[in-house]
Amino acid sequence: MPELRVISLDEVSKHNYEDVDKSCWIIISGKVYDVTKFLNEHPGGEEVITQLAGKDATVGFLDVGHSKDAVEMANEYIIGQLPEDEIPKSAAPSTPSGAAGGKSTIIKDFTEIMTSPTWTNFLIPTTMGIVIYVLYKTIFH
Ligand code: HEM
Repeated sequence: MPELRVISLDEVSKHNYEDVDKSCWIIISGKVYDVTKFLNEHPGGEEVITQLAGKDATVGFLDVGHSKDAVEMANEYIIGQLPEDEIPKSAAPSTPSGAAGGKSTIIKDFTEIMTSPTWTNFLIPTTMGIVIYVLYKTIFH
C-alpha cells in the first residue's frame, strides 16, 4: 500500500459537512475517510455519519459491528492518516475498546478478558457444570 498522506485533526475538523464544500471526513482507527460521496449510499443512513463529520467515528463504527464487506467498502474511502501523536488512545487499531485507561496493561487485559461476552458465555456454564458435578459426587457417593 502506498504511504498515506498525513492529515491533522485540525484539517479533518474543517470537513464537518458544513464548512469546506459540505464535505464529510471521518476518522476510524487513526485513518481519515472522505465519505462525502458515500453518504447517500450508506445503508445505515446519512445522519449517523454526518453527525460525526470532522470527528473520530471509531467507537460508532465498531459499535455497529459492521460486516467484513462494510469494512472493505470503507477502505475505498481512505484518504490519509492522522499524525501518530494525534491518534486518540481509544482509537488505536489494537485496542478498539480502549477500556480501563490508566491501569497497568496486565490488569487492563485481565479486566477485558473477564468482561468479554465470550468469556462469560463460557465461564457460567462451566462453573455450573463443576458445581453440579461436585454436588452429585457428594450426595450420591
Ligand atoms: C466508510 C465508513 C462506513 C461504511 C463503508 C459503512 C458501511 C455500512 C454498510 C455496508 C452497512 C450495512 C450493514 C453491514 O454490512 O454491516 C452499514 C450499516 C450501518 N452503519 Fe455504516 N458504514 C460506515 C460508517 C458508519 C459510521 C461512522 C456509523 C455510525 C457511527 C455507521 C452506522 C451504521 C448503522 C447504524 C448501520 C445500520 C445497522 C443495522 O441496520 O443493523 N456507519 N454501514
